[in-house]
Amino acid sequence: MKDGRHLTMGIETSCDETAIAILADGRDILSNVISSQIDIHKNFGGVVPEIASRHHLENINGVLDEALDKANVTIGDIDLIGVTCGPGLVGALLIGIATAKAISFAKKIPLVGVNHMHGHISANYIEHKDLEPPFLGLIVSGGHTNIVMVKDYGSCEVLGSTRDDAIGEAYDKVARVIGLGYPGGPKIDELAKKGNPDAIKFKRVYLDKDSLDFSFSGTKTGVLNHVNSEKQKGNDINTADVAASFQEAVLEVTVEKAISAAKNLKQDTLVVSGGVAANSRLSEMLSERCKEEGIKLYKPRPILCTDNGAMVGCAAYYKMKKGEISDLCLDAYPGLEI
Ligand code: KG4
Ligand code: ZN
Repeated sequence: MKDGRHLTMGIETSCDETAIAILADGRDILSNVISSQIDIHKNFGGVVPEIASRHHLENINGVLDEALDKANVTIGDIDLIGVTCGPGLVGALLIGIATAKAISFAKKIPLVGVNHMHGHISANYIEHKDLEPPFLGLIVSGGHTNIVMVKDYGSCEVLGSTRDDAIGEAYDKVARVIGLGYPGGPKIDELAKKGNPDAIKFKRVYLDKDSLDFSFSGTKTGVLNHVNSEKQKGNDINTADVAASFQEAVLEVTVEKAISAAKNLKQDTLVVSGGVAANSRLSEMLSERCKEEGIKLYKPRPILCTDNGAMVGCAAYYKMKKGEISDLCLDAYPGLEI
C-alpha cells in the first residue's frame, strides 16, 4: 500500500521479454519496465529457448530494481505479486515464477499465477478505464489467434482458434522468407506501407461457412511459392509488394471473422489484444469496419499489445479480487489453455 492505493507487481518472462510493472489499484501503471532480448535472438532468426532463460536470469534483478525505482516504491509497499505461469517457454517461465515465489515467501506477499493470454486481454483494462466484461475478444499474438467471449475478468469461452500457424508466427515466417529478419511482424508492418496490397492475390482462407477458426499456413506457403517461382524466373522480388499483399490477405480474413462473430452474437464491443494488435494496418481495417457496423473498438497502445508486466499485474489483481490466490507450489504450464 502506498498513499492508500493497492500495489500489484506484475512479472512476465514467458518468451523473450523480461518485464516487470507496478500497478496501483489494478489498472494504473506506476512503472512498466521491459527488457527485450530481440538483439540477441535476431542473430538466430527466432527465439532460442535456452538462451532466453539464461538472459531472463541475468536481467531479472536489474529489471525488478528499475521497476521499483521508477514507481518510487519499495518492495515493502507491494500488496500482491502476479506472475505469468503459462503458456510459454518452460525455462523462461520458471525464472519469473522463481523470482515471484522468492519475493512472496520472503516478504509474505500474496502470489497469483496468471495465464499469459488473460494478461493480453487485461492490457485493455489498463488502457480503457471504462471497459468491463462481458465483451467479444480478438487475440492476435505470436503463439495464438483466437476469437473469445470474455465472460468475466479472467474467464472466457473460446469461439475460434487457429488450426495451424498463429498470425504472428505467419508474419515472422514470411518476414524470414523475404529477408527481413526477426521479429518479422513490425518489419512487415513498416515495409507494407511502401507496397501495393493488391499486387499479388494471396489466398484468403475462410474455412467452412460461419467458422470462427483460422488457417494461415496456406497463405504463408503461397508467399514462399511466389518468392521461389520469381527467383527461378530470374525476376527481382518486390518485397514491399509481397509484404503488403500478404498482410492484406491475412488481416482481411481476421477482421472479417471478428466482425462476423460480433454481428452473429449481437455484440457491440470488440476488444483486440496481443502483439499483432500493434499492427498499423490491422488498426486501420478494424477501425473502418467497426465504424461501418456500429461496433465499439477497444485496443491497447502498442507497448501494451506486446508482452509486458503491466498486463500480468492487472490480470492478477482481478484474480485476487475473486480469491484466486496461488501457493508456493505454483508451477510453469507451457501449454496452458486460455
Ligand atoms: O503477444 P506477443 O508479444 O507474444 C506472444 O504472446 O506471442 O506477440 C509477438 C508477435 C510476434 O509474432 C511479432 O512479430 C508480432 O507479435 N508483432 C507484430 C507487430 N508487432 C509485434 N505483427 C504485426 N505487426 C506489428 N506491428
Ligand atoms: Zn504474448
